[in-house]
Amino acid sequence: MSEPSDLERLLSRARDAAVEYLGSIGERGIGARTGRDGAGREAALPEEGVGGAAAFEELLARAEARAVASTGPRYFHYVVGGATPEALAADWFTSALDQVASSAAGSPLAVDLEVLCARWLCELFELPADELTGVFVTGATAANTVGLGAARQRVLARVGHDAAERGLAGAPEVRVLTGGFVHASVVKACAVLGLGRASIERFAADNRGTLDEAALARRLEGLGGAPVILVGTAGEVNSGRSDPLDRLAELAARHGAWLHVDAAFGAFARVTPRASDLVRGIERADSIAADAHKWLNVPYDCGFALLRDRDAAARTFRLSAPYLPPAVAGEPRDLVPANLSPESSRRARALPVFATLLARGRAGIRAMVERHLDLAALLADEVRAAEDLELVDDPVLNVVPFRFAPEGVRRRDLDELNERLGRAVLEDGRVAVGLTRHRSVVCLRPAIANWRTGEDDVRLVVEVVRELGARLLG
Ligand SMILES: Cc1ncc(COP(=O)(O)O)c(C=O)c1O
Repeated sequence: MSEPSDLERLLSRARDAAVEYLGSIGERGIGARTGRDGAGREAALPEEGVGGAAAFEELLARAEARAVASTGPRYFHYVVGGATPEALAADWFTSALDQVASSAAGSPLAVDLEVLCARWLCELFELPADELTGVFVTGATAANTVGLGAARQRVLARVGHDAAERGLAGAPEVRVLTGGFVHASVVKACAVLGLGRASIERFAADNRGTLDEAALARRLEGLGGAPVILVGTAGEVNSGRSDPLDRLAELAARHGAWLHVDAAFGAFARVTPRASDLVRGIERADSIAADAHKWLNVPYDCGFALLRDRDAAARTFRLSAPYLPPAVAGEPRDLVPANLSPESSRRARALPVFATLLARGRAGIRAMVERHLDLAALLADEVRAAEDLELVDDPVLNVVPFRFAPEGVRRRDLDELNERLGRAVLEDGRVAVGLTRHRSVVCLRPAIANWRTGEDDVRLVVEVVRELGARLLG
C-alpha cells in the first residue's frame, strides 16, 4: 500500500504554518470567544478522502478561524503556560517517535526519561528524589487522582480494608479534609475514586479560603484515628496562596493521615528563594500533584504525580495480564507507568520535559518564574494606581485578582458589571482574562505563566479592562 501523503512535504508545510502562526502570536486576536460555530452540523464523513495535503489545508483554515491563541503572551485566562521552542520541538519529535510509553517493554527511552525527569523535577523543587516515584499523566486533575488513589488504598489498608480488591462496599468511610483553597479537580478525583464529593470537609477561616487550622485539628481529634486524607493546596487559582503545608504535615503525622498536596503550579514557588517559603513543608507530603503544561511551559497535556508510597499507587492502578510486565515493580528504573496511573497506553510525555529542563537548567527555570513574579507585582502596581480598579487580594505569586470598581457604581452592582466586563474582554480579544468569585466578589484573575509574556502585555491588561469598563458605563 502506498502512503496516502508525502511525509516530507506535509511535515515541512506543518513546520511553515507553525512558524508563521507562532511568529504572529504576539499580535493575534486571542479568539477566546465561547461560542462554537457549525461543528456537528457539517457534511458527513467523506466516502473518499481528500488526501493529506488538502486535509492539512482544511485544518489550517479552521485553526485560523477558531483556534484560541492560548499559547501566546497575552493569554492570562486559567493558569496556562505556553510552549517553549525546545519543548515544542521535543513534542513534535515525540509524535514522530510515537512510543508506547506504558512500560520499558514498550519504550525503554520513554521510561528512562520519565524516571530521569521525575528525579530532575524533585531536584528542581528540592524534594527528596530518593523517596519519591514520579509518573506523568495528562495534567494535575489526573495527578490528583493518582495521589488520592494511592491515599485511598493506604489509609484503608491501615484499617484492614483492601479497596482496590474489594471496592468500597463495606469499607469504613474515608474523610478528605482540606482548607478553603481546594481545587475543583480534587473534588472530581474524590468522585471518580468512589470516595464521593461529600467526603470532602473544608476548613476555611475566611472568605479567602485560609485554612482554619484549629477547627481542622479539632476535627482530626474527633475522628479518632478513622481513615483520613489531608489535602493541601500549593498555589490556589484565584490568589496563588498556599495552605501552611508544614502545619498540615505535622497534623498528618500526628493523626496517621495521608497528606496529598495539589501543587499544580504552586510547586514552582520552590524554585526561587523569593517564594519558596509559601510552600514550606511540601517535601513532607505523601503525594504531590503538579503540572508541566502550566509553569514549565511544555505543550498540553502534561502533568505528573510524585508518590512516596509507590506500592499503594500500584495496588490501585495496576494492570495485570500474562502479556504485560509484572504489576508491582521494585526498583525505580523498573517503573511501569501503566501500573501507577489511570492510563495504560500513553504518549512519551517526559520528552518535552526532558528537553526543557536540559535546555534551561535550574537557573533558567528560576529566571522565568522570577520574571513572572515581577510581572505580577507590576500588574498589581498598575491596578493600585488606577482609581477605577480595585485589587481584590494582594498577589503572593503569579495571580492578580482585581475588579473594575469605578466611583459612582453601587458596591452591590459591581458583580454584575464585572461579569459583563469579563465577557467583553474575551470578546475584544486583545487579552484573555478569566472571571472568578474571590473574597465574595466577582473579579478578574489574570495568571502569568507564559514564557513570552512581557511588561507591555501585562500593561495591556489594565488598559483593556479600563477602556472596556468605561465603555460599559458610557
Ligand atoms: C491548583 C490546581 N489544581 C489542579 C488543577 C487542574 O489542572 P489540570 O487542568 O492540568 O488538570 C488546576 C488548574 O488550573 C489548579 O490550578
